[in-house]
Amino acid sequence: MEKFKVSGPSRLSGEIDLDGAKNACLPIFCASLLSSEELNIFNVPRLGDVQTLLTLLKSLGVEIEVDFERKTCVLNSKGLCSNIVSYELVKTMRASILTLGPLLARMGEVKVSLPGGCAIGQRPVDQHIKGLEKMGADITLRDGYIDAKANKLRGARIVTDLITVTGTENLMMAACLAEGQTVIENAAREPEVVDLACCLKSMGAKIEGEGTDIIRIEGVEKLIAASHRVIPDRIEAGTFICAIAACGGQIFVKNFDRKIMGLAYEKLKSCGGEFLEVNGGLKVKFDQRPTSVSCQTSPFPGFATDMQAQLMAVNAVSDGIALIDESIFENRFMHVSEMQRMGADIKVKGRTAIVQGKKRLSAAKLMATDLRASAGLVVAALVADGESLIDRIYHLDRGYVNMDIKLAELGANVVRIRE
Ligand code: EPZ
Repeated sequence: MEKFKVSGPSRLSGEIDLDGAKNACLPIFCASLLSSEELNIFNVPRLGDVQTLLTLLKSLGVEIEVDFERKTCVLNSKGLCSNIVSYELVKTMRASILTLGPLLARMGEVKVSLPGGCAIGQRPVDQHIKGLEKMGADITLRDGYIDAKANKLRGARIVTDLITVTGTENLMMAACLAEGQTVIENAAREPEVVDLACCLKSMGAKIEGEGTDIIRIEGVEKLIAASHRVIPDRIEAGTFICAIAACGGQIFVKNFDRKIMGLAYEKLKSCGGEFLEVNGGLKVKFDQRPTSVSCQTSPFPGFATDMQAQLMAVNAVSDGIALIDESIFENRFMHVSEMQRMGADIKVKGRTAIVQGKKRLSAAKLMATDLRASAGLVVAALVADGESLIDRIYHLDRGYVNMDIKLAELGANVVRIRE
């Protein structure tokens, strides 16, 4: 089990390069299942979840040439030889559910393990299933698996009961090869959904409305070879901005794109500091204690739930009181008790955390519980007095490329310990 040893308080300076967005790369890799020609992907991040998905796709017969040094990956599913996605693979990464739509559209029959819950919540996939049934799929849930059959999916008007990112992505991919037009209403508007649509269109799909709450897809006979570059990771950008807001200093975030940040960027700017978009990146400078900022997590362009733990760490050392409402997931405050052990003054009432900022936090031995909670703990440890040890750092490696190295290059004292 690997740990991070973080000695604070830190001041950060230097520049960072954002890696490709995990939550764009995962559905885009699954899109390769829709065509029997090559899909060339650039700006691929070397992440645990990406490697897990590549293992899963290989088990289905997808040919894969990945080069993490060059950040490229070529996928070709012409030799697709299996339509079963096992629990062993799905339990390690829920995003495996993104194989359901494309595999069903391509093969007509598929058996995908239900993902089950995770640390942050139950994470049901009823909307994925209901949408595919609307498109004519015959679906039964048996022994923890989704058995889906459809000789040919047909276009349908689907109105999801709630906004779901991977639900929208699954249905959009399935609709690409369906007979006729599919309209997805109440669609997710996340930049990662838009990036997937861009990739699908480069493969010959007919899609419009991506980025709005109504996406129209005209089914086509087949998709063709294509190339696509994954967008930068907006959550990585936001995480580093939280680190500088908590610690102070000045950093330059290369390949920063304000258009994909949504409300999170506006909220981070109201923490204080100076923000200057220049030379294709973002210069951020904080030389005083951050201002408390309240937020309510909501679908894009609202405040991203994936940024909630990191902002809480900033509020833990800010100069006032902040209210953080987690309205997306029912159990996404696992980082609170760990931050309280560092002296943070946080009270949780239902889905609201009341954070009273304090001048100092103290280092502690910490336990990461999920990907974004661990990012919040890293931010808190950077600003805390003393040496913190963060255990189970594999959670962090699922979604951040070399965060220890990137932080050390900014002057932080972060060391990865392999036990
Ligand atoms: C995606 O998860 C992201 N993962 C999550 O990022 C992110 O937190 C989440 O969207 C919200 O932005 C990927 O893109 C791989 P949802 P997803 O379906 O699609 C409920 C990270 O840290 N719901 O938008 O699984 C659900 O329980 C990860 O990178 C249903 O009830 O999230 C939740 O309360 C964590 N039925 C809400 O909707 C369904 O069929 C939003 O979930 C689907 C979802």
